[in-house]
Amino acid sequence: MGIQITPSILNADFAALGAEVARIGSADWVHMDVMDDHFVPNLTFGPTMVEAIARSTDIPLDAHLMIADPDRRALDYVDAGCGSVTFHVEAAKAPIRLAREIRKAGARASMALKPATPIEPYEELLPELDMLLIMTVEPGFGGQKFLDLCLPKIRTARRLMAKHGVETWLQVDGGISLETIERCAEAGADVFVAGSAVYSADDPDRMVAQLRAKAEAASG
Ligand code: DX5
Ligand code: ZN
Repeated sequence: MGIQITPSILNADFAALGAEVARIGSADWVHMDVMDDHFVPNLTFGPTMVEAIARSTDIPLDAHLMIADPDRRALDYVDAGCGSVTFHVEAAKAPIRLAREIRKAGARASMALKPATPIEPYEELLPELDMLLIMTVEPGFGGQKFLDLCLPKIRTARRLMAKHGVETWLQVDGGISLETIERCAEAGADVFVAGSAVYSADDPDRMVAQLRAKAEAASG
């Protein structure tokens, strides 16, 4: 599939989200950060808002569910129009069942790991997943500093994907910028979330192109 850039609207102007999404026309996906004030200490939006965004754009939506009960709520985001739905393994009661339900409902199934959660215990789940999200900050807020300590986990995940012969996409999220994206691409990431880097730029779509160029050069 190659390099994909998935800007997060968390740092966009929430009073004008339709227009904000229109500023990132070359993005591969729009990353929607759903927070419930339980799994993370912050609150954003739910399926009603996601559905409204889906109606406003042709770019596919990538929901990142930072919520306490994804087993019960994830399919709402498929119904709302998301092409990819990511749940956190730390919150899921039955991650295999949940991934299968998301796929069966017609979306790509993805599982996220917080910075302190290792990949090795979940190696056998990789064939059940279309994407693995490795968080490179503690989830909950945009604009945090990239955690370099996550880089070895990206390399390990890429190695385990090769071992299992799967084509799982490897997404990174948190502190991704022109300064940090090359390290992630070199380590094996191929899908890049960027929130504040994109929406603090004067021209968000130009930033998407610049991030893509750096990642493509670094991934060889
Ligand atoms: C953090 C969110 C991220 C966030 C990224 O919990 O999952 O998607 O919006 O923002 P930046 O790129 O500013 O770290
Ligand atoms: Zn996110």
